[in-house]
Amino acid sequence: QTGLTALDYGFVNTAATKSDITYIDGDAGILRYRGYPIEQLAKNSSYLEVAWLLIHGELPTADQLGEFDEKIRRHTLLHEDLKHFFSALPHTAHPMAVISSALSALSTYYENAGDPNDPEQVELTTIRLLAKLPVIAGYAHKKALGQAFLYPDNSLSFVDNFLRLNFGNMAEPYEIDPVLSTALEQLLILHADHEQNASTSTVRLVGSTGANLYASVSAGINALSGPLHGGANEAVLEMLGRIRDSGEGVQRFVDRVKNKEDGVKLMGFGHRVYKNYDPRAKIVKESADQVLAQLGISDPLLDLAKELEQIALEDDYFKERRLYPNVDFYTGVIYKAMGFPTRMFTVLFAIGRLPGWIAHWREMNEDPQTKIGRPQQLYMGAAERDLPQR
Ligand code: SDX
Repeated sequence: QTGLTALDYGFVNTAATKSDITYIDGDAGILRYRGYPIEQLAKNSSYLEVAWLLIHGELPTADQLGEFDEKIRRHTLLHEDLKHFFSALPHTAHPMAVISSALSALSTYYENAGDPNDPEQVELTTIRLLAKLPVIAGYAHKKALGQAFLYPDNSLSFVDNFLRLNFGNMAEPYEIDPVLSTALEQLLILHADHEQNASTSTVRLVGSTGANLYASVSAGINALSGPLHGGANEAVLEMLGRIRDSGEGVQRFVDRVKNKEDGVKLMGFGHRVYKNYDPRAKIVKESADQVLAQLGISDPLLDLAKELEQIALEDDYFKERRLYPNVDFYTGVIYKAMGFPTRMFTVLFAIGRLPGWIAHWREMNEDPQTKIGRPQQLYMGAAERDLPQR
């Protein structure tokens, strides 16, 4: 009622979480995983190499990477009974709801699953999650299509195995498309970690109670599903489709955003930390042009996205609020060109972000100093008062 905010009381949340994993400079548009610039990793590394780097803090040796890859391939199969779990869900189920609940269900097949106090369990669960989440995601996609689930093919690389689980079928051999593999590998790397974003903070907070790694990651997936967070890549495609179908034109849409008409936002724009161009968005934008050209696809939604970006970047409303494209603005156009349905876009974000979630959960459990525990609160409610006489 006072109209004052917490900041007026000088309340600054000093309980920042300490971490060694990822560094972001929001003003300079810098992102580094364990000190390595995202631009270098996105162009020269593999997803599993980045996963190892995030989790263990150093780049793997060739032997370490080979063993890591081999272990993951050997753990891709799901317990056969888990298929009954999928058959209980409607084909209209959102894939994010499918994978978050399937992960919780997965933990019931393992004794002492992901126990933070059992180093062997932590290693095994790290491998199991990296190996099985892509399979669960492929099942969620096939479930929505009403198609038969495929078993993983351990002769394929991590990314090719995932592409086959989504686009292969039981009737014919799946032909690997190197364009899709390279593009998806890079997108997974770009999403692998982003310090204390909402879903990672969720994983750390849930894990700080002693909850196991499956439960913590399942909670992180649910946090990611929100349209203001990972769900934005799905929301961007829906926004571009509405602009195209309405015929209202880009400028009219931008004017509606500026006038805050019915709460409409420019999805894929803005960021809690980046008050400059998201370095990941720059890489994705370049990749979108290349992938569509290599696939021989011209998508009017990409042209629409570029027109929207151009108008917004030149408009004072967005400049004053330091709103720039974030990682979600262009990714959907590439995912669509790859053949993924819009509702799978955030699932792809989750697979990318999984190594970061695991790394943060392990860091938090290894160093109690970095536990969030219980966020602080400043009480702004009613002072003490008595019930009316009755
Ligand atoms: C991700 O944290 C992470 O690292 C997340 C992520 C990761 O890798 O994990 O990077 C992934 O979640 C990226 C963000 C994806 N979300 C979207 O694209 C949804 C659209 N963006 C917004 O909802 C918003 O920009 C946020 C929530 C992302 C960030 O909000 P901010 O920077 O805290 O801005 P704010 O909510 O305090 O708003 C400041 C002003 C407001 O206007 P005024 O009230 O001052 O007039 O900017 C406006 C807002 O209305 N604004 C927008 C806008 N974002 C902020 N106006 C129109 N369109 C937008 N997208």
